[in-house]
Amino acid sequence: MTPLSPGSRDVARILSDLTTSGADREFLANAELHLPRLHELFVRLYGDRPDGLERLASVVDLARRSWTERPRALKALDRERESTPDWFESERMLGGVCYVDRYAGGLSGIRDAIPYFRELGLTYLHLMPLFESPEGNSDGGYAVSSYRRVNPALGTMEELAELAADLRRAGISLVVDFIFNHTSNEHEWARKAVAGVSGFEDFYLIFPDREMPDAYERTTREIFPDDHPGSFVQLDDGRWIWATFYHFQWDLNYANPSVFEAMAGEMLFLANQGVEILRMDAVAFIWKRLGTTCESLPEAHLLLQAFNAVLRMAAPGLLFKSEAIVHPDEVVSYISPDECQVSYNPLQMALTWEALATRDGRLLQQALERRHTLPEGTAWVNYVRSHDDIGWTFADEDAAELGIDGYPHRRFLNDFYVGRAEGSFARGVAFQENPRTGDARVTGTTASLAGIEAGDAGGEDRVVLAHALALSTGGIPLLYLGDEVAQLNDYGYADRPAEAGDSRWVHRPFRPGRNYDDRTDAETPAGRVYSRLSRLLAVRRSTPEFAGNELIAFNAHVASIVAFLRPGDTGFAVLVAANVADSPASIDAVTLSGLHPEALDLVASTPVWLGGGIALPAHGVRWLRVRVR
Ligand code: GLC
Repeated sequence: MTPLSPGSRDVARILSDLTTSGADREFLANAELHLPRLHELFVRLYGDRPDGLERLASVVDLARRSWTERPRALKALDRERESTPDWFESERMLGGVCYVDRYAGGLSGIRDAIPYFRELGLTYLHLMPLFESPEGNSDGGYAVSSYRRVNPALGTMEELAELAADLRRAGISLVVDFIFNHTSNEHEWARKAVAGVSGFEDFYLIFPDREMPDAYERTTREIFPDDHPGSFVQLDDGRWIWATFYHFQWDLNYANPSVFEAMAGEMLFLANQGVEILRMDAVAFIWKRLGTTCESLPEAHLLLQAFNAVLRMAAPGLLFKSEAIVHPDEVVSYISPDECQVSYNPLQMALTWEALATRDGRLLQQALERRHTLPEGTAWVNYVRSHDDIGWTFADEDAAELGIDGYPHRRFLNDFYVGRAEGSFARGVAFQENPRTGDARVTGTTASLAGIEAGDAGGEDRVVLAHALALSTGGIPLLYLGDEVAQLNDYGYADRPAEAGDSRWVHRPFRPGRNYDDRTDAETPAGRVYSRLSRLLAVRRSTPEFAGNELIAFNAHVASIVAFLRPGDTGFAVLVAANVADSPASIDAVTLSGLHPEALDLVASTPVWLGGGIALPAHGVRWLRVRVR
């Protein structure tokens, strides 16, 4: 066994072994470019391991083999992506997300839905976890028993690869989850680890008694307190194993480089099926250290960068999307070309709902002003809601500047969205309410949270407004499929045993066939919402100012109005203004005097005279092409 040594000796040796073994030229060029970085990361992560160099060499060999097997069409795509590295920042990008079984019955149903995806203009489709997982509750597939087998109820891996190719031909990139923080307790590695099979004992964090679990739990957070307290669960033999989420989702031990190697193998396997974006699940939790929260530790970043470097060698066209639903400072820390190129934007999502509840846009406005900027070559994924709960992840220090006290404000928002507060239009359900800490989160479909279910007059407008923001702030907008036709909550989950304990199922309804049938009928909420959103989607696609991420916050001097400019090339910009209040509001002419008075309403296709100010109806939003003086 040989430990890693800093400096270039290890790298030179691995590269020369690759050359003598006759590695392909393109792979060698990629390895020359990215191995030094991977090596450095390995030194930092695994410098003290006696087997460090062996592990690194075998990861590189894995990458080499994976490249050899990579289908020609995907290598062509790699080259295309490398020559247009900003492809995902285009104004034409539009994402959709759905559960394969709920939305389409299986992978073949997803293929049949491609014409509809084209009608919507999707360029990115995130299929929720579709791998083999335990029967009954599997956390919606987030407990993976095999990364190489599709859940037989949905289809096969061959079908997934074919679907990826069909989607690609339709201009849609396939996105799947890379659930690499944990596996299910039924995964082969898990079974072997518990049985003490040599080579697998250290794949997870297993302790003989409560001593270490107690020590860790002094500083860790409870994520699913309804399921089990703390971060550990007890095995049948009395030992304790780390399980951040459900008791059947066991956290992998990345301090062991064999775990990194094994997971890199699964990642490259998925890459070669034609997946174009990997959604990196639960990134904040992947490294643990005693005495810390065990969230977002520096090593979590190093690990992601190491996975990224492996990808650059063997499947360079792929992107990582970070799923970090944490403090906004931490969210951005995962975003860089070398780490995750795209990331959910949980702050904008949560603050859109915050603004609608309070009828006050200032926190959202402040976030757009100071927390929107990203490094070059990266992008936000902006969404109105996801398959998960809404957590109020704004920074207390930001809120304090506006005189808002974070703790009671979160309580208010939770009460508001579960319909407990006065003036609430929402029909949400509480998720993981923790009476000990007062913490809770909220679930519900967009239509139910926005007021359509409650019959509130502003419901449809709010759905449109929330989407109009997600579509216009920059990056990749992501639709939760079914929300574009105003699907409502599915309370039936409470009668389904595998779902009853997890209120997130309330907002994961089966494909709302009736709403889809109604989508051309302006007499229905589905029809009205669909036609208004379709118009916004069409305008977004043909508005180059919406590409990229550059955004200049525009102070409307009205608390209920969120406004910003998306600059374009030639002195033009798009001014987006949204009024979250239940009554009309306007931006006055003086405030607008820095803009040329002749403007164009992009949605209505009508000229606008800014000299008279801009009027916004209750929950109204406008996209205006303006000229900056
Ligand atoms: C992510 C998923 C969530 C899941 C958790 C554990 O946060 O979005 O649905 O419960 O990871 O895998």
